[in-house]
Amino acid sequence: MTLHIFDTVEALSQAAAVLIAAKVLEKPDCVLGLATGSTPVPTYEKLIEMNRAGAIDFSRVTTYNLDEYCRLPEEHEQSYHRFMKDHLFDHINICPENTHVPDGNAADPDAEGIAYDAAIAAAGGIDLQLLGIGRNGHIAFNEPCDRFIWHCHAVKLAESTIQANKRFFDSEDQVPRMALSLGIGSIMAARQVLLLATGEEKAEAVKALVTGDVTPMVPASILRHHPNTVILCDKAAASLL
Ligand code: PGA
Repeated sequence: MTLHIFDTVEALSQAAAVLIAAKVLEKPDCVLGLATGSTPVPTYEKLIEMNRAGAIDFSRVTTYNLDEYCRLPEEHEQSYHRFMKDHLFDHINICPENTHVPDGNAADPDAEGIAYDAAIAAAGGIDLQLLGIGRNGHIAFNEPCDRFIWHCHAVKLAESTIQANKRFFDSEDQVPRMALSLGIGSIMAARQVLLLATGEEKAEAVKALVTGDVTPMVPASILRHHPNTVILCDKAAASLL
């Protein structure tokens, strides 16, 4: 695990975008695992700038997103389908058919999870997985739990996640309680993991990830066993290290 600490979110986001761009340049038909949330937004802005400047070409890139809320229409302004279009896909030359987000409205979430994992495997696995981290140490919607859940699965969101995400909705009761999330297995199978953490509200989770025990109570801690994980933190997120 490699940890880099940046003075500013701007510098961190530039570094993250350069690492992603380097992967696309090295392997133009790579498979990227993508994340939603506030943290990667400035990184996506940098990637859009690079694409507009002709520095990177997404035309052969395939993407798989980490998660999606259950029972929220795809066109809802807080769905992760919509987030990805608004913050990245609509602004770069990626083929929409090469972009994938789990179907949170699938009639059978278990079957959707199995199909999503199978699609990632059939695409050759994830070359680079971008991750944020929850205040409670979650990655994707793998919430603190008594065991690591390996496969794509439906999950009940932790109360702290509902509290963190209510800022995006008009009221707390509009926040979906369930999501479909990639499991720890697909994340651990990614050839490279790039985890971004910004802001002091992530400091406890970063400390637990970097210095605590590997435990499903801090799902991100499993990354200590991943052979190629890069963590980029700003000073605030690294303040307890
Ligand atoms: P955030 O979410 O980037 O909005 O803080 C990260 C996460 O919950 O994984």
